[in-house]
Amino acid sequence: MPTDEQVMEALRGVDDPELGRSIVDLGMVRRASAKRGAVDLEIGIPIEGAPDAAELENAIREALSGLEGVKSIDARFTTMSEDERHALSDRLRPWGDGQARVNPFTDSRTRVLAVSSGKGGVGKSSITTNLSIALAQRGHQVAALDADVWGFSMPRMLGVDRPPSIVGELIVPPRAHGVRLISMGFFTDEDQPVIWRGPMLHKALEQFLTDVWWGEPDYLVIDMPPGTGDISLSMAQFLPRAEVIIVTTPQVAAQRVAQRAAGMADKVRLSVVGVVENMSWFTGDDGKRYEIFGSGGGADLAHDLGVELLGQIPLVPALREGGDDGHPIVVAAPDSEAAQAFAGIAARVDEMGPRRIAHPELKIL
Ligand SMILES: Nc1ncnc2c1ncn2[C@@H]1O[C@H](COP(=O)(O)OP(=O)(O)OP(=O)(O)O)[C@@H](O)[C@H]1O
Ligand SMILES: [Mg+2]
Repeated sequence: MPTDEQVMEALRGVDDPELGRSIVDLGMVRRASAKRGAVDLEIGIPIEGAPDAAELENAIREALSGLEGVKSIDARFTTMSEDERHALSDRLRPWGDGQARVNPFTDSRTRVLAVSSGKGGVGKSSITTNLSIALAQRGHQVAALDADVWGFSMPRMLGVDRPPSIVGELIVPPRAHGVRLISMGFFTDEDQPVIWRGPMLHKALEQFLTDVWWGEPDYLVIDMPPGTGDISLSMAQFLPRAEVIIVTTPQVAAQRVAQRAAGMADKVRLSVVGVVENMSWFTGDDGKRYEIFGSGGGADLAHDLGVELLGQIPLVPALREGGDDGHPIVVAAPDSEAAQAFAGIAARVDEMGPRRIAHPELKIL
């Protein structure tokens, strides 16, 4: 028959799905006893009606089923009190009592990918969404930041249907398809235009990085706003190790603007690591590829910048539909040509590994 200590030891190996840490270390196990093989548990969950409670219960049952002599498991889930939540946030937050908050990304092993372009509507948000999931599908911990504070679209595209949870002093991002997301969309009313002035915006972006429980993801993928304004400057300041991925369409005009984004990256000393060409072709019912927006823009831009063309994404109605209803194509149709293209880009980004490429000789037209 297992002892109370053995039950506790087995629970130590269970991570809270929301917070990604051991439920024992997080102080979530309120009671764990075992009498004649009957295990009786009380688990304190930080957030009322936590959407991941079922996932947690399954993980607990699985961990205990490995213990010999367990006959039954009675697990009760109760919501933590305000004091308990604060104690939990003290355990989670990376800064100590009375210390200044820290930005976890300046000095961590997390690779930061900033998806940019010089022009709107080329598919940055779609690419951020699908690339994030494709990286998660490769087994990585992935977080996404929707830095497009005016035109936020990632909550809808990723299919996130709930706001972040507040645990003590920390904001815990919701997850969808294995990706944690923070977006200005969670903090504003969709119908109200957001009017942010420079300093406020800077502060808001900083809070996204410091007050949010990110865990320690392998990747942070950022949907940058179109253009090269205040936000890009702030992001570069907060995330000096960010690697820029430029999105362009095959036509030369789009390539010009994408080049501007590259110029911006250069100015703020972020390294461009690659180009993704979007809307490269449309495959008709006849099986032929139609290059609706021309061809060669991505390859030319990559060549001019001295970086790789990481991939080409075809124009497919399913990609737009998946973005509209929160079922991104890499999840909805993983075998499709577009999903495979995202998988290829994720693989390539992984292979490249973190690096900084300096191009002092680079001249932006
Ligand atoms: N390869 C594609 N095939 C079909 N539709 C696409 C493709 N890429 C993007 N779209 C659609 O084009 C529209 C614009 O894409 P998206 O919102 O990703 O671009 P964006 O660069 O983030 O735009 P914005 O500058 O407005 O933020 C969306 O409706 C999206 O679903
Ligand atoms: Mg967008």
